[in-house]
Amino acid sequence: MQAWADQARAGAKRIGFVPTMGYLHEGHLSLVRVAKARSDVVVASIFVNPLQFSPTEDLARYPRDFDRDRAMLVQEGVDVIFYPEAAEMYPADFTTSVQVSKLTDTLCGRSRPGHFQGVTTVVAKLFTCVKPHLAVFGSKDAQQALVIKRMARDLNFDIEIVIAPTVREPDGLAMSSRNSFLKPLERQQAATLFRALRHAEELIALGERLPQKVINAISDMIVRETSGAIDYVALVDVNTLQDVKEIRGQILIALAVFFGKTRLIDNILVQAP
Ligand code: PAJ
Repeated sequence: MQAWADQARAGAKRIGFVPTMGYLHEGHLSLVRVAKARSDVVVASIFVNPLQFSPTEDLARYPRDFDRDRAMLVQEGVDVIFYPEAAEMYPADFTTSVQVSKLTDTLCGRSRPGHFQGVTTVVAKLFTCVKPHLAVFGSKDAQQALVIKRMARDLNFDIEIVIAPTVREPDGLAMSSRNSFLKPLERQQAATLFRALRHAEELIALGERLPQKVINAISDMIVRETSGAIDYVALVDVNTLQDVKEIRGQILIALAVFFGKTRLIDNILVQAP
């Protein structure tokens, strides 16, 4: 991978990179298109990173289908698929990690201790393997995107981090590899997550300024319309990810909800009038 990257760089090619865990959907492909539009050659990686799953999480059952993924990436015109083995990425005596503090204490970081350390460690390694000029991440994982931006800045990675919009199903559900785990009724109910976020946006547009009121409105809707168990609903500052005390300027509304063992996340950026 590094030899290929060196050759591309020697030929003055701009390398675009899209890291994924595979089981690709339109959301991933939209990132590939963004990368393609902004670079000369595009690398996509497929690696289900064991470091970012806790022992109680779904590493073993995470969906995988390399042949299908490969066909989709070829169709999109990706130049290289980087598909390393876990043992290559993490030899038995692997002992280094990358940790972004503070930003990882809130939201998903609170309910998934160690998760973001696993993400930043693997993304740092992938960056060093692929040597991209530009890397594209989805705003569906808004906290992840912000954490990676901070890591790149703090560690002087010479890589432009681009954040692309969330791609949704026709009913509004954010596309996710994990949606494939939902039972038909759960899948139907899951559309409520985005509807609740949109409802929150409306309340804010109508003048609501109290975060707790908005949180309650979102939670009530999810409790009323779904069998999901709320992990968190939060209104946070877009830069610090800390809870806001008053709704002003640009804020991120983020939520995580369990449908059975399947944890879904979604978020929207809202500009308070
Ligand atoms: P994965 O969940 O496969 O997602 C890969 C990339 O696709 C991430 O940047 C994610 O934000 C983006 N993505 C997922 N669903 C999307 C959607 N509906 N619309 C737009 N983009 C979407 O995120 C990871 O993998 C891993 O943590 C990784 C960064 C690869 C590190 O292991």
